[in-house]
Amino acid sequence: MLSTQTIHIEKTNNSRLPEVDFSNLEFGQTFSDHMFVSDFVNGEWQAPEIVPFQNFSLSPANPALHYGQAIFEGLKAYKNEDGEISIFRPQANLRRMNVSADRLCMPAFPEDVFMEGLKELLRLDADWIPTTTGSSLYIRPFMFATGEFLGVKPSDTYRFAIITCPVNAYYSMPLRVKVEETFARSVEGGFGFAKAAGNYAGSLYPAKKAAEEGYHQLLWTDGKTHEYFEESGTMNLMFIINDRLITPALSTSILAGVTRDTIIQIAKDHGLPVEERKVSVAEVMEAAQNGTLQEAFGCGTAAVISHIQTIGFRGTDFELPPIDLRKYSPRLAQELNDIRVGKKADTHGWVVKV
Ligand code: COI
Repeated sequence: MLSTQTIHIEKTNNSRLPEVDFSNLEFGQTFSDHMFVSDFVNGEWQAPEIVPFQNFSLSPANPALHYGQAIFEGLKAYKNEDGEISIFRPQANLRRMNVSADRLCMPAFPEDVFMEGLKELLRLDADWIPTTTGSSLYIRPFMFATGEFLGVKPSDTYRFAIITCPVNAYYSMPLRVKVEETFARSVEGGFGFAKAAGNYAGSLYPAKKAAEEGYHQLLWTDGKTHEYFEESGTMNLMFIINDRLITPALSTSILAGVTRDTIIQIAKDHGLPVEERKVSVAEVMEAAQNGTLQEAFGCGTAAVISHIQTIGFRGTDFELPPIDLRKYSPRLAQELNDIRVGKKADTHGWVVKV
C-alpha cells in the first residue's frame, strides 16, 4: 500500500558528480545519481523507492516496446545563491501526466507521493542542480507498461519513474523553422494533447527531412487542411502581430504546455493583449511579408522561449526582425526566468520550495 511515509532510499556510494563538466552540458546526456521508482501491481501503486540511476530489466514482450503505452513529462528545478531549491509548477505537470495516463488507459499517479518523492530526490541530488544563469535540473517523470504479452490491450502493470539531468538551454541559437504542409504531428481526435512517446516517434521523420533542408524544426499545421498552425517541434507556438500575442487555441491535437500557460499569464499581467484562437498560415505569412509579424517563438520546459529567426514556406525563407530588436519575447523570457529563480515575486504561486 502506497504512502508518502514509506519512500525507501538506497544511496549510491559511487557518485558520478566529479566527472561532470557543468560548463559543457549537452541536453539530456548527463544523468544525476539517483532515480525515483514505483510500480503499479495488483491494482495499486507499490511503496516507492529512490535508488541509484541504473538500467531496468524488461520482458521482450513488454507492451510499451511493442505498442507504445508510454508517457512522460518535463519540468525543472533551480537552486538560488543561498542554496535553496525550488521546482516550477510541478503539480501542473503531474495533472497533465494524469490526463495523458487517462488517454492511454494507464493509472493516475497520486500527487502527494509525486511531490514527496520528487522533493526527496532533489534533496539527495541537490549538488547536481546547476546555478549558472540559464541552467537548471531538468526533471523527467515517465510511466510505461510493464506487462508481458503481445495482445493489443492495456497492461495490468506499470512503472512510474523520475530521472533528472543538469541542463542548459535546449536550443542555443535563434531557430530556422519550416511550415510543414505534408506531414502532421497529430490529428483532431488523436492524442496530440497527451505527452505520449508515440507523438514524438512520429515527429522524427518529418523533422529529419526538414533538417536535411537546413531547418532546426518544423511549424506543425493541422492534419486535415494544413491551413492552421498547431505547434513548433517540441514546443507551443506564439506570434506577436500588431503588438498582440497570438497563439493556437488548445485542442485534442495540441499539448497544453505549462510554459505556454505561464507565458500567457505573464503577458496578461503586463497588459499585452493575448489571443488564443485558430491561427492560419495565411495570416502569419502575410504578416511576415508586410512586416507586421514582429516576433515568433516556441515555448516549452526544455526550450523555455526559443526565438524563431527564419520561417521557410513553400521554398522561400522569410526573415523576422533580429532578436535584439524584439520588444516582447526577450522580456517575457527574462520575467519567466526571474520568477523561476526567485528574483521576482511569484504572485501566482508557481514556485514550490523543496
Ligand atoms: C519538454 O519541454 O520538457 C519536452 O518535453 C521537450 C522534450 C521532448 C525535449
